[in-house]
Amino acid sequence: MLEEKRKRVLELTEILEKANYEYYVLANPTLTDQEFDKYMRELENIEKDYPELASPSSPTKRVGGEVIEKFEKIRHSIPMLSLPDVFNEDEIRDFDERIKKAGYNPQYVCELKIDGLSGSFHYEDGVLVTGATRGDGVVGENITHNVKTIRSLPLKLKEKINIEVRGEIYMPRKVLAKLNQERSELNLPLFQNCRNAAAGSIRQLDSKIAAGRGLDTWIYHLPNPVDYGIKTQWESLEFMKKLGFKINPANRLVNNIDEILDFIDEYRNKRDTLSYDIDGVVIKVNDLKMQQELGYTSKFPRWAIAYKFPALEVLTKLTDIIFTVGRTGRITPNAVLEPVIVMGSTISRATLHNEDYVLEKGLKIGDIVSIRKAGDVIPEVVEPKLERRTGNEKDFVMITNCPICGSVLGKKPGQVDHYCLNPHCPARHIEGLIHFCSRKAMNIDGLGEKIIEDFFNLGYIKSIIDIYHLDVHKKDLQELEGYGRKSIENLLEAIENSKKNSLERLLFGLGINGIGDKTALVLAKKFKTLDNLMAQSEEDLKALKDIGPILAKNIYTFFQNVDNLELINNLVMLGINTLYLGEGEKYSELITDKRFVVTGTISFMGRDEIEALIESYGGHPSSSVSSKTDVVIVGDKPGSKADKAKELNIEIWDEEKLSDVLKNLGELN
Ligand code: IVH
Repeated sequence: MLEEKRKRVLELTEILEKANYEYYVLANPTLTDQEFDKYMRELENIEKDYPELASPSSPTKRVGGEVIEKFEKIRHSIPMLSLPDVFNEDEIRDFDERIKKAGYNPQYVCELKIDGLSGSFHYEDGVLVTGATRGDGVVGENITHNVKTIRSLPLKLKEKINIEVRGEIYMPRKVLAKLNQERSELNLPLFQNCRNAAAGSIRQLDSKIAAGRGLDTWIYHLPNPVDYGIKTQWESLEFMKKLGFKINPANRLVNNIDEILDFIDEYRNKRDTLSYDIDGVVIKVNDLKMQQELGYTSKFPRWAIAYKFPALEVLTKLTDIIFTVGRTGRITPNAVLEPVIVMGSTISRATLHNEDYVLEKGLKIGDIVSIRKAGDVIPEVVEPKLERRTGNEKDFVMITNCPICGSVLGKKPGQVDHYCLNPHCPARHIEGLIHFCSRKAMNIDGLGEKIIEDFFNLGYIKSIIDIYHLDVHKKDLQELEGYGRKSIENLLEAIENSKKNSLERLLFGLGINGIGDKTALVLAKKFKTLDNLMAQSEEDLKALKDIGPILAKNIYTFFQNVDNLELINNLVMLGINTLYLGEGEKYSELITDKRFVVTGTISFMGRDEIEALIESYGGHPSSSVSSKTDVVIVGDKPGSKADKAKELNIEIWDEEKLSDVLKNLGELN
């Protein structure tokens, strides 16, 4: 019986892996979804009844379920290098000429530079045994449990060999769009781009989460080609394709610089039509012996470069300019655009900052404009295309009255921004409420922008005080479409918990003009209680090191205003804490009293969050590296700050080190 089952497990494994390969690698399925599910269920059932037959590389592992406690380190037998970036044709020609000067006339392989994160995958006897991140290039993290859920990565190869391959783990654009849609409905922070989303998904302890994130792979590198008698990069790609890996069909073997430039041009144009993000083209010397002879610098191979596309610009129509009112009453003109896809996301709005900005660009309504996604994230209107004007465009006219409450706008002398001066303007209230609940302020989980807007419009929350009376409407809220019993319960609990926040959160949340979270902390630390702060004169405040005359005036006048005093009184009566609780709460000799700079992207945590944690331990985050800096935290794609840190011999923490420190402090699982 067992033998029979063992045979069936092998059969089913083969059927399912073949189906996976056909579906996810070849995009050419031969099984229907129903058939696939039927075989999968049969295999799951056998594995349940005969656990001894469940192999670690069974296709049933693809759905996840394995939960690890922490990420183990894996040392790469051959370092995982990155490539030198080049940004224009001249630099590509320099690269080609350098190689020619060394006496070669090479063929090159052009590959797309996939915007994900690189991974290394080890197979023994043709079976996937480990997957690792690049880490710092020398030591990465073991992500095997998550890697097994990536459908396009074979669990078993077509040959029973030992091999390591490397490639990019990425999230397709459509998957990101859907994921962000779901997250926005749940009021969770959105992923900024495919790369961050892929990195965040692969760094999950529970593989079920990664399994649900639709990750994919393109494999592009074989670290030990000689072991398989392979002589060129092109052969490596062919070889890995034969083994069952997903190799990008765009890869091209080219003979000279002109063909390289053609490839780049072609994909500059096709870039938007791809189902995944690319940020450039990788150019590799094809011949592996040549590669070996060209060798390496201390950081990079000399036989390959990464050409990075310039920020992408596309054309669209500026159909209108509308105005929004911020928390401080500031008016912002916004471009309404005919929706256009830039780097995989649809852009239909872009900020135009202020009147002067629009006038300087000379924008007219109806213009065809070029749009750029600066830093791959924030959309920006670059310029109007004057040659496309028809004469029907309308001049931009700055409004004179608030678009929401109709009051006359004001402008401070010498400044560019217009303000709605009505402190009771409803738009200001919504923005003010959003600010009060935001993460750096009272941090009320579940009261995000959309919900606040809903509750405001439905009349449940008109002022900050109403937030703390929401429990009165519990029943009504639970019946609202799209909310539900549990989510309202969680929300009310989060509101209740926010009453215990330390003073600086309340101070920041109150939205005193010019008081950011950092200044709020300075004030809370200095004065310890709200009463004490409120008792200070303008002169006392001005005398403080971190507070200039304008801030001093803003703070002082805020606490003179009767509406504000009433609000504070009510908050106190509702039991909201007004004491500074921070000091002495948390201590770490690695963080407390030290000066930190964070640069680059840390895959598991946003910069704001890292800085908030540092502050919660009495450390001091700052934005520039100097001889006073104690530690520089360096993430992916760091700026020049990382170089400066090295120059000044400042302690550097990479992602692993940061995660170790935080784990030891119990701040990270
Ligand atoms: S080859 C020694 N090929 O870009 C060769 N890298 O700065 C190492 N990448 O860390 C990499 N697409 O994450 C290579 N077709 C491709 C790539 C690629 C994306 C990433 C990879 C690497 C970085 C290079």
